[in-house]
Amino acid sequence: MTTYITTPIYYVNAQPHLGHAYTTIVADVYSRFCRLCGDDVRFQTGTDEHGDKIAEAAIKEQVSPKEYVDRISALYRESWPQLHIIPDNFIRTTDAVHIETVQRVLQQVYDQGDIYFGEYTGLYCKGCERFLTEKELVNGNCPDHQRPPEAITEQNYFFRMSKYQQQLIDHIHANPEFITPERYKNEVLSFLSEPLEDLCISRPTSRLTWGIALPFDQNFVTYVWFDALINYLTGIGYPAGESFQKYWAAAEHVIAKDILKPHAIYWPTMLLAMGLPLFQRLHVHGYWNVGEIKMSKSIGNVVRPADLVAEYGVDTVRYFLLREMSFGLDASFSSGAIVTRKNSDLANDLGNLFSRSMAMLEKYTDSQVPVPGATEESDMILQETARQMLSQYHENMGRFQFHRALQSVWDLISHANKYIVVSEPWVLAKEPAQQQRLHTVLYNLVETLRLLTLVLRPVMPETAQKMAAGLGLDGDDPRISNFSQGAQWGLSSAGTRLQAIEPLFPRMDKPEKSGGAMAVTGTAAQKNSPKKEKKKGGGVDVGVIEFEQFQQIDLRVAEVVHAERIEKSDRLLKLTVKAPDTRTIVAGIAEYYTPGELLGRLVLIVANLKPVELMGVQSQGMVLAAKTEVEGKKRLVLATVSGLVTAGSKVA
Ligand code: MSP
Repeated sequence: MTTYITTPIYYVNAQPHLGHAYTTIVADVYSRFCRLCGDDVRFQTGTDEHGDKIAEAAIKEQVSPKEYVDRISALYRESWPQLHIIPDNFIRTTDAVHIETVQRVLQQVYDQGDIYFGEYTGLYCKGCERFLTEKELVNGNCPDHQRPPEAITEQNYFFRMSKYQQQLIDHIHANPEFITPERYKNEVLSFLSEPLEDLCISRPTSRLTWGIALPFDQNFVTYVWFDALINYLTGIGYPAGESFQKYWAAAEHVIAKDILKPHAIYWPTMLLAMGLPLFQRLHVHGYWNVGEIKMSKSIGNVVRPADLVAEYGVDTVRYFLLREMSFGLDASFSSGAIVTRKNSDLANDLGNLFSRSMAMLEKYTDSQVPVPGATEESDMILQETARQMLSQYHENMGRFQFHRALQSVWDLISHANKYIVVSEPWVLAKEPAQQQRLHTVLYNLVETLRLLTLVLRPVMPETAQKMAAGLGLDGDDPRISNFSQGAQWGLSSAGTRLQAIEPLFPRMDKPEKSGGAMAVTGTAAQKNSPKKEKKKGGGVDVGVIEFEQFQQIDLRVAEVVHAERIEKSDRLLKLTVKAPDTRTIVAGIAEYYTPGELLGRLVLIVANLKPVELMGVQSQGMVLAAKTEVEGKKRLVLATVSGLVTAGSKVA
């Protein structure tokens, strides 16, 4: 099989952030997964370097556009290896070969009569670099950029997009996986249920010169989307290149929902006009938000991938991003969530399974893979769990359901941890008659670890490499590097020497850092171990919770009737609140509020938290506050309600 996977090419008006990193990690993981399955894979990313936004950014920095794009493009290129992302090609729209290809396509489409000259008045959003329809506006604003588009009338060139509308609709119906997940396919079909307007594909050079000149009219440059989308062809040598022949038929694009319309409508109609086959699948994911707000430079809430790698390690970041986001839905980033995943899933579950197993093998078999004996029921169940994991993993990775694939891997990990507990190797080791049983159990653990190494390889390549070294396997041993050969039980060879390795994931006992919009203060929740918190929810996907789970939280309006400092603490205040019952809550807000200014205030509390003792005072709930920065300094601002509300009112 052949696979061609692409990311969007990123605008160079901003530096890479977690949102860009997520898409690129997804493409990297998928390309590694396909390679694991034996595919011939090409993975491409790059930068989008023409257009208004970029010309503006260069002016702001007082450098020429070329100098500017060279600098920012390099930042993208250099940041991917830090995340162990290895693209086969990094394309730039200022590359000469791309410019030539775009001009060739324009000339072809123009010559066949699908580009015409006309006048257009429309609502143009500079942020999106496209005209918006009335329907797309929210309260008169562009929903992504929160500002009204400008009304512009211009003479321009237009691509007859409408001509290909029906063909596109038919294609989407005939190919159910063309746009996935399904919600985005439905969004596109709903958009296509209205007549499509033709696409304005030029900008007059009087307004913009930083673009690719139209080959048939030098007074215009190419609209940035018509230029950018063609990167997917240029990067594989369209039209004559061997790679084009080989990879185009297998193209799959990964994007976020912000650029659905250009990819699901402009791009396929352009391909139809060029007479080319359409891409195979368009995979659309949601946004990474910080709190409720999309991460973006203009809002100023960006998280830098390099900072995360420095703090948590590359594999933790890769794992967290894939596990935490249900592909297609939005997810919320916080450092608390990443620490929780690291400690619970990686250190406790995976790390412990590995280190416990290796320690027992060292002690009981002198670090050699033992010869297994007869299989008992618990062994069969472990094998069956492994078999199910392999099939669910394979299916879900192929469908871009990474969180599900990882969930099934973690089901096996937790089953194997339980298998150790019920098998009690330390008891078996004491009885000479149980030696064979002990060896069977230890062999099964080695096998489980080998299968985990195989499936974790695309997501956490560094960790998989360490695990392979521990298991005494060469990195390119097919049993851990080839899914069709390795994904079966019983391939570990007795007698293989195991190696001692460092713990895979040292626990992080750091307190939660900033990053979440809502901070909780003076509560039991901070004291609970992350694992406990997660499992309480029934092991449900964190990131999204069920409505029923949310309903379990008793949020109430409370009135502060008394407040005082807690001796020996700079951080804590003891509040007496009415909600409507009178209770004491200890809140970590002393650095931001004096007791006097709290009297009579309405605050929001979590009323049904398990009480906890803080500095000798029992706290019966939690006060909600937003974490923010005022004049460069961190501060907590108490959450409240506006309007006439009585203390004790439920918040839902
Ligand atoms: N240059 C265009 C794409 C042209 S492709 C032919 C562009 N560039 S962009 O720099 O704005 O990148 C948008 C993409 O970055 C999104 O589609 C997504 O892949 C990624 N993300 C940017 N912010 C994101 C989040 N907050 N969350 C998730 N992904 C995000 O659009």
